[in-house]
Formats: sequence, structure tokens, C-alpha cells
Amino acid sequence: MTVEMNVDVAGIPLRNPVLTAAGPTSRDGDTLLQAARGGVGGLVAKTISVKPAEVPRPNMQTLDRGKSQWLLATAMQNQIVHLERINVRGAYGLLNHELWSDKPYEKWLKHEYPKAKEAGLSLIASVGYTPEELAKLAPLVEKAGVDGIEFSTHYIESDPKVFNEVAKTLKEAVDIPVFAKMSPHVKDLTVFTKAVDKHVDGFVAINTLGPCLHIDIETGKPLLGGPGGVGWLSGPAIKPLAVRCVADIARGTSKPVIGVGGVSTGSDAIEFVMCGASAVQVCTAAILEGNSVYGRIATEIASYLESHGHDSPLDVRGISLKHLPTETLRIESLPPTVDEEACSGCGLCNKSCTYSAIAVNPDTSKAQVDTNLCYGCGVCVSICPHRALSFQTN
Ligand SMILES: Cc1cc2nc3c(=O)[nH]c(=O)nc-3n(C[C@H](O)[C@H](O)[C@H](O)COP(=O)(O)O)c2cc1C
Repeated sequence: MTVEMNVDVAGIPLRNPVLTAAGPTSRDGDTLLQAARGGVGGLVAKTISVKPAEVPRPNMQTLDRGKSQWLLATAMQNQIVHLERINVRGAYGLLNHELWSDKPYEKWLKHEYPKAKEAGLSLIASVGYTPEELAKLAPLVEKAGVDGIEFSTHYIESDPKVFNEVAKTLKEAVDIPVFAKMSPHVKDLTVFTKAVDKHVDGFVAINTLGPCLHIDIETGKPLLGGPGGVGWLSGPAIKPLAVRCVADIARGTSKPVIGVGGVSTGSDAIEFVMCGASAVQVCTAAILEGNSVYGRIATEIASYLESHGHDSPLDVRGISLKHLPTETLRIESLPPTVDEEACSGCGLCNKSCTYSAIAVNPDTSKAQVDTNLCYGCGVCVSICPHRALSFQTN
């Protein structure tokens, strides 16, 4: 079976559902061409505005559990071997204070968009921020040959009045599809989406979360150079928030939603698609892994679909949404069952059980649940690397 990876988002054709996101990995035409060589399905460029941004330095800081463990290791020499072993975990997030593009918009119109178009892929521009700025920039950007425009709501937050004004101005200024990039700070995204739906052709969710603060404990100083030392969070840590936001938006519109936030594997992308996304964008994973990340994720999506008997991402799009509103509140204790063939007796479930309700039986070397103590919290089920523990579902 061959999986059909071409998708269409609001009439914009993509060679696969993995896009670049506005950020340093889409900062100019050359960078976008590199992403195309890395197997991306379509291009989204860095946000431009009427004035180039004055970008603080340093403006990116990885959040890495391994790194803080390493500091501990330095302090506790006798435990270095153990800590080194757990130091292999990757970054769980990234803080940034990169703002929008530091290039004048004229340079984007003349050089960067035309250069990016050489890739032969669809190109979505990202434009900010006020209605006046969009009214000025959007027609110029359209004339430069881009296929769609994403507008950032990062600085207008959750005021539907301002949002509608921005969206309406943009929609009236151009004929190409217009996408609203949503902030995770909007309170009720389904209601918000319904209120603004008529002014846009699609949604993108989410932008970064914050402001956040990260301190270097050797100096006591913040690690980022922006005002107050603050930065905005992206990467794996925000994925569950982003997936929830995509689901909320998808329940408020029939228009396409593009998921973004912590996508670094094909499984991440599938999760977004199951919650209603037509495509995903990748930023932090591309910063940390390089341009081959796009092709890798696309290949992983195709493998998942093929191994589950699907021939297109469309087969699984939105399939989780029907489960969300109907899930009943379950308050009774429901102990998990153990698949003894799958259980390796590794004991991870035992270590993570705060109720002392699961242990590896020394005779069988298999996990065993004490149903009297089990609270049905679910940690052991989620931590088991062999999927040997499961809850009964109906
Ligand atoms: C360094 C950096 C710069 C970013 N710049 C922009 C930007 O100019 N415009 C925008 O809408 N989003 C911007 N973002 C947000 C990303 O496009 C994306 O929405 C967010 O990082 C979540 O995706 P991720 O977890 O894959 O990084 C930026 C993110 C990072 C990390």
C-alpha cells in the first residue's frame, strides 16, 4: 500500500503535511530552501512587520533535564555514573525572545519570498501585527507571490474585537487564504473560534507560551537577553497544550487547522491530526535537529498510516474529537490489568506507584497489582515501556 501524503489546506497544496513554522528556521529564503531539501511539505516564513525587529541576544535557551542533572552530577561526584546515564534525555523545551524578523519587509518582498519560491513548494507568509500594519503589508506580500498569509495574534492576545478587526482588514486586503495563528492564552478557544470563523480561511495553533523565566544557578542571572530576562516556551513541554487547543478549535470550525507546538516525531503529528489538524508545523525540533527533521517526521507519519491500514492522513483526521465530549467522569478506582507475556519485570511501574499498589512478584518476575491499594491513577499504565499494563475500556 502506498500512503498518499499530499494534502490540501484551504486550497493550498502541500507535498506532505509537515510545514516549517515562523522562527529562525524560516528566517530567509535560503533557510526555507534548506528546509525544502530536508523534505518539508510546504513553507511558512518568519513573521515580518513594517519595522525590522531589534532582537535581544542571547535569545534562545534550551530547557534540558539532562543539563540540570549534569550540574547535580558535578556537585555529587560519587553519583556521576548514574546521573550520566540519565543525562541522555533531550531538551523538553526552549525559551526564546526572538520577536519577529530583523529584516526590512522590502527585502522579504524582493529577495526572500522569491528565493523561497524556487523550492517549488507552497509558501505561506507570516505578517504582524495591527490592522494598519496588515493593510499596508498584506497586498505587497500577496503580490510577491506567496500562496497564503498567516497572521500572528501573539500580541493581541484574546480580545475577539481586536482579533476580528485584524482578520477582517487582512481578508479584505488580499485574495489568498488567510490563517489566524492562535495564542494558547485564549480562554475558551471553541467559543472564540466560532466568533472569528467568518473572517479567516483556517487556523494555526499554537504560538509560544509565557512569558517564562530561566535562571543560571551558577550566576543567579537569567539566561536570556530580553527585557526582564524572560522568554517564550516552545517544544515538547507545550505539546499537550497545543493538542488540546487544536481540538478546541477544530470543534468550533469546519475550516482547516494547522497544529504546531512540540511536534518532533510522526506520532506527535498523528496526535494533532487525530484531534482535527490537516497539517503540522515544526519549529523547535528543526532548531535542535536540523532540516532533516521534516522528512523524518513525514516518513514516520507515512509508516504509522501504512502500518495501521490507512492510505492518507485524512483517514485519521479528527477521529479523536468524537471521544472528547462523550467521555464520562470516572471516579471509581479501576485497577489496570497486566499482560504477563508483555511484562519484562523491569519494575518501573513499582517505582512510580505512589500508592504502593504494584510490585514485581519475585516468583514470576511479573508485575502484580494489589487491587485493594490501587487508586486507578494511571501512572503505571503510561510509564510501562512494553504496554504490558492497560485499563479495560468499553
Ligand atoms: C526562536 C523562535 C522564534 C519564533 N518566531 C516566531 C515568529 O516570528 N512568529 C510566530 O508567529 N511564531 C514564532 N515562533 C513560534 C513558532 O512558530 C511555534 O508556534 C512555536 O515555537 C511552537 O512550535 P514548536 O514547539 O515546534 O517550536 C517562534 C518560536 C521560536 C522558538
